[in-house]
Amino acid sequence: MPEFKIVVAGCGGMSHQWIEYALTRKDVEIVALVDLFEDVAKNTAKKYSLDCNTYTDVSTAIKETGANVVFDITIPASHKNITVAALSLGCHVFGEKPMGESMQDAIEMQKAAKESGKSYVVMQNRRFNKQIRAFRDLVQSGEIGVPGFINADFFLGPHFGGFRDVMDSPLVLDMAIHTFDQARFISGANPISVYCHEFNTEGSWYKGNASAICIFEMDNGAVFNYRGSWSAEGAPTSWESSWRVVGSKGTAIWDGTHSPYAEVPIPTEEHQFLYNSQKVEATLSYSGQDGHFGCLDEMFASLIEGRTAETDCTDNIHSVSMVYKAIESARTGKKVYF
Ligand SMILES: NC(=O)c1ccc[n+]([C@@H]2O[C@H](COP(=O)([O-])OP(=O)(O)OC[C@H]3O[C@@H](n4cnc5c(N)ncnc54)[C@H](O)[C@@H]3O)[C@@H](O)[C@H]2O)c1
Repeated sequence: MPEFKIVVAGCGGMSHQWIEYALTRKDVEIVALVDLFEDVAKNTAKKYSLDCNTYTDVSTAIKETGANVVFDITIPASHKNITVAALSLGCHVFGEKPMGESMQDAIEMQKAAKESGKSYVVMQNRRFNKQIRAFRDLVQSGEIGVPGFINADFFLGPHFGGFRDVMDSPLVLDMAIHTFDQARFISGANPISVYCHEFNTEGSWYKGNASAICIFEMDNGAVFNYRGSWSAEGAPTSWESSWRVVGSKGTAIWDGTHSPYAEVPIPTEEHQFLYNSQKVEATLSYSGQDGHFGCLDEMFASLIEGRTAETDCTDNIHSVSMVYKAIESARTGKKVYF
């Protein structure tokens, strides 16, 4: 008998990852598919040969099926209503990023989770791969000394169509959350201030600003510098961003694709203008699944083990606040404090 009865809310592009994951688990049963457009839900049921009802309203689906977990894979504008409704009906929620569409939404969602006594955990799939785990370990090992300057470059030119093309801040709201969350993960630090300049370059196919530069001061004294664009044709970086962390004794590099490494000076008795450096390879020890599957493994493990998940809303609110405070800074032209 499956322990987890799942309602899938939002059967668009991203739902395939979640459904394919659910189908790998014996303790999970998808009991309903929900979409504003019921045909979308019906087509998904057909595609995966799912023998379950389809709905247009998540509350009705939960009540009629007795579900205990909701996957919220709807668009950002629907996340708050779906999450709050599901929590109030006694379900845990595993939801796509971002937490709502504003800081106020995120605070209300976290409050709803606390009051319900259920878990609300956010998808941060880009924390779950061998290389970022090795990079985090390398940065935090002391190999490069005290990390003081964290840099992430993100330059890609995806032509999505759909909601992102008409959002006000598509890059910062829909994508940079991953990079900001990765910066917290790598540094083990939380932000204390941000200055953000958002803009839209000539030729951008987005209505809102698809490029941004953000400077975050972190609570361990480090500065995190983010440069990103979603309208950058040619010479793409990895979706994981290209990282350079400068510490007091050396530099750690991860291009987002290959194995991370550090370069540290070769010790010598004599003063040198520029020291020769040696390469230190990161240790790839993470043996979990990648991406969505890894994050979903952690979400279910947290319920089974009765503990807080790594990407629980109480942690994720620090990442999503980087998004909303960056947008506030861009709109006001001022440095914003957390
Ligand atoms: N973690 C990642 O790497 C990643 C990647 C892509 C998208 N996402 C996130 O996943 C979410 C969905 O993105 P997508 O690309 O699948 O979008 P999409 O537009 O393809 O699909 C969203 C679906 O949700 C449905 N929907 C919207 N409001 C609803 C509501 N109130 N009730 C029921 N259904 C509703 C829409 O009809 C649509 O079918 C977004 O939050 C996005 O930011 C995450």
